Amino acid sequence: MRLLDIGTFKEYYRYVTEENRNELTHLFDAISTNLTSFFREPKHFDFLKEQVLPGLIEEKKKRGSIRIRAWSAASSTGEEAYSMAMTISDLLMEPRGWDVKILATDINTQVLKVAREGLYRDVRIQSLPKSVLSAHFLKGEGDKEGYVKVKRDIRDMVVARRMNLTAPRYPFKKEFDFIFCRNVMIYFDKATQRAIIDRLYHHLKKGGYLFLGHAESLTGHESPLVYVKPTIYMKK
Ligand SMILES: C[S@@+](CC[C@H](N)C(=O)[O-])C[C@H]1O[C@@H](n2cnc3c(N)ncnc32)[C@H](O)[C@@H]1O
Repeated sequence: MRLLDIGTFKEYYRYVTEENRNELTHLFDAISTNLTSFFREPKHFDFLKEQVLPGLIEEKKKRGSIRIRAWSAASSTGEEAYSMAMTISDLLMEPRGWDVKILATDINTQVLKVAREGLYRDVRIQSLPKSVLSAHFLKGEGDKEGYVKVKRDIRDMVVARRMNLTAPRYPFKKEFDFIFCRNVMIYFDKATQRAIIDRLYHHLKKGGYLFLGHAESLTGHESPLVYVKPTIYMKK
């Protein structure tokens, strides 16, 4: 509002809804809460590593498929999608022989720029195990001192796109093997949450898993998703 020299919310509302719909992008960029971290809610990554991926990889091998597709819905600056990619890569004997893609989507265009670049302050990774640091990050030098960059093979697995989860339809033809949609549902009312869960369900493969954030659950929603453990659900 300061940038546009608009003094009241009422006037700004009129500007966004009647005069310049493109302003919505700036509005979303300014008001969305983007807190995230690498391997946030580590139990999800343990579950992925121990309960989801071994079976998934076996099943793909049996069917002669090399394709793994996952979605970090509301990915913020990309740490979640990269954590998923690192977990998958660590389990594949020969990652180069596989076609792994993690779609990272968010409504905020600024966070997606960070996600695409994969460059982070080194304080953001200081609590990660040494093995993860050496396997998946490069230490910045010169003007990149104090930063780390996600290694190329992992960055290549992640594709970042702008997408609004409240859109009535999602533009995917293929289903995902698993979906992380964490710490975003809390911002929506019950009806919107319900509609989003239905769409996520629709784009999840049979036998695929949905991971929600720690304060989120499907309690109170009638859902065809089967409860596996707190915040983890499966499509039967
Ligand atoms: C708190 S962050 C969660 C990041 C990550 N999933 C995690 O759990 O660490 C919430 C993200 O949801 C995004 N978001 C909010 N509303 C959205 C919407 N309608 N569609 C897509 N993303 C949205 C915000 O821009 C923000 O990056």
